[in-house]
Amino acid sequence: MTARTADVAVIGGGLIGRAVALACVRRGLSVTLFDTREPGESSPAGAGMLAPITEGADSPATRLFIAGRDLWPAYLAALAELSPVPVALSRAGIIALSHDDAEASAQRAPAPGQPHWQGASALAELEAGLVAPLGGVLHLLDGAVDNVALLRALDHALDHAALHAPSTDRRLTRAGPAAGVERTAIGPTAGVRVRTRDGQSHDAASAVVAAGAWSPHLTGLPRTLPIEPVRGEMIGFPVAVTSRCIYGPGAYVVPRPGGRTIVGATMDRVGFDPTTTATARRSLHEAVAAFLPALTNVEPDSHWAGLRPVTPDFLPIMGPDPDWPALIHATGHSRNGILLAPMTAAAVADWVTGKVPAWDLTPFRPDRFK
Ligand code: GLY
Repeated sequence: MTARTADVAVIGGGLIGRAVALACVRRGLSVTLFDTREPGESSPAGAGMLAPITEGADSPATRLFIAGRDLWPAYLAALAELSPVPVALSRAGIIALSHDDAEASAQRAPAPGQPHWQGASALAELEAGLVAPLGGVLHLLDGAVDNVALLRALDHALDHAALHAPSTDRRLTRAGPAAGVERTAIGPTAGVRVRTRDGQSHDAASAVVAAGAWSPHLTGLPRTLPIEPVRGEMIGFPVAVTSRCIYGPGAYVVPRPGGRTIVGATMDRVGFDPTTTATARRSLHEAVAAFLPALTNVEPDSHWAGLRPVTPDFLPIMGPDPDWPALIHATGHSRNGILLAPMTAAAVADWVTGKVPAWDLTPFRPDRFK
């Protein structure tokens, strides 16, 4: 059976899918959200860092990453009008420690994004517990968002949108996991039929592929999506030891509200395996204790893993498919899905409504891989 037509089908209920769905609802569109809860989904597993320089230093898209970061304050202010769930945002800067003398001299040189070199004593003034004899760089305005609270806030906002739309014209409908897509007509104006794993069909004028590492599993895509799951393991400590994020050799540190610290993350190409390992737990703990000795004798009280959707160039795949413009890609965000969620949501809502996004997103175009 084919369900009634929506304006937009959003395939994937992680951070990108939820943010895209909400952006479309806020433009007055009706949305069907195809939610998939997969073991190892990356959105709740991430650390929430907004690190456009540290995570994108060699990328031609660094300016886009910075623009994406700077959307966050207004994005959360708008979300706060739709949801009472508080979402912590820190823009206290991220410290990137030098790994060796060569890197320290390179980091002293100017680079994009207002980095500020700090020697060991300056760093100790910023973060009392930090041991960093080689110094490092303070990336001003970078920081972190509490991605777990954010997911709850988006859910609340979406449910609110669903509940408060007139029942004959619900703005948001939730559906089960999608199995594949097909065209509802021949030609470039074809809409999209989404088939669910339990055999339902839902038609929409446009569909958005936002299923992270699972996106390539959808049948009927007009191109192969070169997205690979890359496992990141994280550990959590029940103490606060820093006031801002720190990237050190072998580990990064993110302070969380409520006096917690989370530390990540490994990069393991192990397929769709979200299990955690004693080796990663030990190596992350040893790496962080080397620059934050206060954690040496504190046992992690949590340990988890997520599967990042990683592309060959670590940039997302974003935009209408050139061979099927009703199908819009919003996936493959690699190490920067949280950073780029507000930008992705706004751009997709623009494409769906026939507008041109405010940014030149050519570096993310879906047909860049041959
Ligand atoms: N953005 C941090 C990570 O992917 O581990």
